[in-house]
Amino acid sequence: MAYETIIVEVEDHVALVTLNRPDALNALNDQLLKELSTALRECQKNDKVRCIVLTGSDKAFAAGADIKMMSEKSFVDVFSEDLFGPEPDMIQSVRKPIIAAVGGYALGGGCELAMMCDFIIAADTAKFGQPEINLGVMAGLGGSQRLTRFIGKSKAMDMNLTGRFMDAEEAERSGLVSRVVPAKKLKDEALAAATKIAEKSQIAVMAVKESVNRSYEVPLREGLLFERRVFHSLFATEDQKEGMSAFMEKREAQFRDK
Ligand code: CAA
Repeated sequence: MAYETIIVEVEDHVALVTLNRPDALNALNDQLLKELSTALRECQKNDKVRCIVLTGSDKAFAAGADIKMMSEKSFVDVFSEDLFGPEPDMIQSVRKPIIAAVGGYALGGGCELAMMCDFIIAADTAKFGQPEINLGVMAGLGGSQRLTRFIGKSKAMDMNLTGRFMDAEEAERSGLVSRVVPAKKLKDEALAAATKIAEKSQIAVMAVKESVNRSYEVPLREGLLFERRVFHSLFATEDQKEGMSAFMEKREAQFRDK
């Protein structure tokens, strides 16, 4: 399918999805969100794709929801259309791992989109922020909820109330991003991580994703039981036999997703 606001490239089991509205620093408008939604659904259906990398430009992963698109809307408009309602559900419904590779600005909806991914690799140029307060509004795609879970109440309040930006080093220290890499290596590092994930048993990969995400939804006791039962269930797979045999035979495992 032809897209205008994103670029999708599939190579060796990894889909690279690049946000591509350079004139608006990849601000999230209706078209971009719809195209992203469609592309991720296609990636989910495409058996060749085993991991997804979502990225932007050197200057901006995404500078937020499109302010020009929102500026004239009324409460009745945004409430009736449930502005930004379906996208988080859509992204969360993708069962394949999604890595956000963030360089430059990840602000407002951009920071929130990165947080919807499974983990974030940041370039040393990355700047995260929830500056919606400067527009007389507040975060609407997870900036007061996911961010608080990731970096704690004090820092989340600071970010959301002052609208200040957090650099990559602080973002790593705070647990928002998993690693920081030089900007020039961002895409390669993210693709290398995705390739590594693509080599694993996809049954185990999906189980990990479900289990870690479950930890945000349920109490610890429930989460631990869920984890243990999923762990048990993986013993029904051929990949468990293969993985453990390969270890004992001192060879690389050949997973078949069975
Ligand atoms: N929406 C629409 N257009 C945007 C945009 C946005 N969020 N961010 C940047 N742009 C546009 C600018 O209007 C500008 O376009 P024009 O040349 O046509 O004027 C172009 O991108 C380049 O931007 P700047 O000239 O401002 O670039 P800069 O380097 O001087 O500043 C910036 C970069 C600090 C990121 C600045 O653009 C900025 O502050 N952007 C807005 C960030 C923001 O407030 N994000 C939150 C949006 S609300 C939201 O996301 C709600 C939610 O939670 C769902």
